[in-house]
Amino acid sequence: MALLEIKDLSVKFETNDGIVSAVNGVSFNVDQGDTLAIVGESGSGKSQTAFAAIGLLARNGRSAGSVKWDGQEILNLPEAKLNRIRSSEIAMIFQDPMTSLNPFLKVSEQMEEVLTLHRGMSRREARAECIRMLDAVRIPDAAARITMYPHEFSGGMRQRIMIAMSLLCRPRLLIADEPTTALDVTVQAQIMDLLRDIKNEFNTALILITHDLGIVAGSCERTMVMYGGRIMERGLTSEIFEHPTHPYTLGLLEAVPRLDRKEEVLPTIPGEPPDMLKGFKGCPFEPRCPLRMEHCATEPPALERLSETRVRACHRNPEEVA
Ligand SMILES: Nc1ncnc2c1ncn2[C@@H]1O[C@H](COP(=O)(O)OP(=O)(O)OP(=O)(O)O)[C@@H](O)[C@H]1O
Ligand SMILES: [Mg+2]
Repeated sequence: MALLEIKDLSVKFETNDGIVSAVNGVSFNVDQGDTLAIVGESGSGKSQTAFAAIGLLARNGRSAGSVKWDGQEILNLPEAKLNRIRSSEIAMIFQDPMTSLNPFLKVSEQMEEVLTLHRGMSRREARAECIRMLDAVRIPDAAARITMYPHEFSGGMRQRIMIAMSLLCRPRLLIADEPTTALDVTVQAQIMDLLRDIKNEFNTALILITHDLGIVAGSCERTMVMYGGRIMERGLTSEIFEHPTHPYTLGLLEAVPRLDRKEEVLPTIPGEPPDMLKGFKGCPFEPRCPLRMEHCATEPPALERLSETRVRACHRNPEEVA
């Protein structure tokens, strides 16, 4: 049984301008110890997919479909029940650690509270466990630094602290939403290494949400590419990089900086991301697709299974794409 099983998930937001269809018919599984990257440009529905799954949608949002955690339906579960799962089994870390860390409390106070409240530890036990976790995320001299305030740490260190905090309850799934976007490239790489080590040490499943395909290789076994709130393709990360079968994936790969090319400006996919208020009859990527055909604008491509590990939604044959 999959740890997380999402079927036909959709998310709609009510706005003054009309209904925004942010996520449409998204299905995927995450097994224990699995690592899945969700990639796509801004607005493609990555975050809302995760938020809907764990019941964190904004007030104007509605979700439908099915989300099973450990075999149990959790979509639209009452807040109290969801809270129990969210505080002990699923942890989420966000892009900007300063929005999640309280600037007025010492790191020790914020971290220890998690353990004294949720795992019933004494203060002393909690302190020891927190230091252990800070060691695990490679905060140097953790025993002394734990009593510092968040602003006394660098951005990369704060993100490490957030990761340590999210691991205190030993979650079975960690969802990291753009965890390295605010950091410079070297620190990004360190955090990605850290997430990989953590997965190996604690066997935590990981969903990594990012617009940057560049950080996915080497950190996630599988990759799911989203656009316009839909799945464009999904497969082993190695397959996605070596044999992309969707024109949108090709475009994303072109935009990954490469060490062997020294270009001034990275190529980006021409055109604008879709207006999610309008909805689409056919493939959302059609207006920007270099390989579009006439019926792409009117007929939505079905998500077809190419192999045990791969699915994709495109009217072109896979061989025509790469
Ligand atoms: N509360 C809301 N009300 C209306 N529309 C919303 C709301 N929250 C998100 N959206 C819209 O839902 C769509 C998907 O948003 P989502 O946050 O999932 O994008 P994303 O892929 O995570 O992008 P980013 O890389 O910018 O974080 C976007 O068009 C966004 O504007
Ligand atoms: Mg997002």
